[in-house]
Amino acid sequence: MKVLVTGGAGYIGSVVTSQLVKAGDSVVVLDNLYQGHRAAVHPEAHFIEGDLADKGLLDRLMAQHQPEAIMHFASHTLVGESVEKPFLYLGDNVQNGLNLLQAAVDHGVQRFILSSTANLFDDPESMPISEKERIVPGSPYGESKFILERLLYWMDRIYGLRYAALRYFNACGAASPDLGEDHDPETHLIPLVLQVALGQREKIVIFGDDYGTSDGTCIRDYIHVLDLAQAHILALRALAQGSRTYNLGNGRGFSVKEVVETARQVTGHPIPAEIGPRRPGDPDILIAGSESIKRDLGWRPQYPDLVEIIDSAWQWHQKHPLGYSDK
Ligand code: UFG
Repeated sequence: MKVLVTGGAGYIGSVVTSQLVKAGDSVVVLDNLYQGHRAAVHPEAHFIEGDLADKGLLDRLMAQHQPEAIMHFASHTLVGESVEKPFLYLGDNVQNGLNLLQAAVDHGVQRFILSSTANLFDDPESMPISEKERIVPGSPYGESKFILERLLYWMDRIYGLRYAALRYFNACGAASPDLGEDHDPETHLIPLVLQVALGQREKIVIFGDDYGTSDGTCIRDYIHVLDLAQAHILALRALAQGSRTYNLGNGRGFSVKEVVETARQVTGHPIPAEIGPRRPGDPDILIAGSESIKRDLGWRPQYPDLVEIIDSAWQWHQKHPLGYSDK
């Protein structure tokens, strides 16, 4: 299939691009390189540097490449930043998504996969969190993804655009020692912990130990980026049978302290940690209920083991201590 991947130079988008290429699909990547890295894009993908705000570019790109499907990763993605700069999220994320949907409809694209988020569940009534859980976006970031989910609902009803909204819990791990996570600034727990092990940071600050969990630190569902990629590919193939929304995680949670301890085991480094204040907007526990995608598509995470997840990230960080900029 010919697939347009927006944000295909970013962390998850680049991994999905490489898995699509390996599966024999033809991939066009559109990325403005704001957070993405040219070196992360699979060499067999066609790369276009450009921005979703540029409607003329989108129109030309669609006319020239005629993708059959779109996977939309390009986005501002930081919960904390979205509270400080809501217009980047409720403005740019939404407007760029609209531009892409308009181009998709204008050019007859019939399949669309959206990167969505567990930040839709700020106040869950049940754990693990299934797709039936009520939506309470935890931030302008989560709200922007929810708006895009709703736009897709209407695009399906009006134009028959089949979509999958894939709500990631905590994406992590590296696809290979040469394809991993590289954000600037880095804000995610696992890469930050591994930067301590590399000697690039003195310590990890744990954001609060007074949550309602067994050790007082937040519990999250860490899902390997290759398992996320597999879910995208399965969803893409299934879209002909109708639109769908899935929560993606392992169904098992680890506390921040457990993640730090596991990283100590994997790296053999003491990784000093200290307790700091809570980070605004962090819910106590987020664990995915992913029964729907398992039942519908036979998705089975291949890397549920936290040791294996952190080890894959550690191999990437050791080989590329400066991320892609060392290339
Ligand atoms: N944490 C620390 N110290 C740090 C960094 C993180 O204690 O230096 C904690 C956080 O408070 C949180 C956990 O580690 O409890 C995981 O934090 P991350 O920043 O790695 O990930 P988040 O859970 O905040 O965010 C991720 C994605 C978001 C998505 C969200 C959905 O990055 O895009 O999951 O829940 F919206």
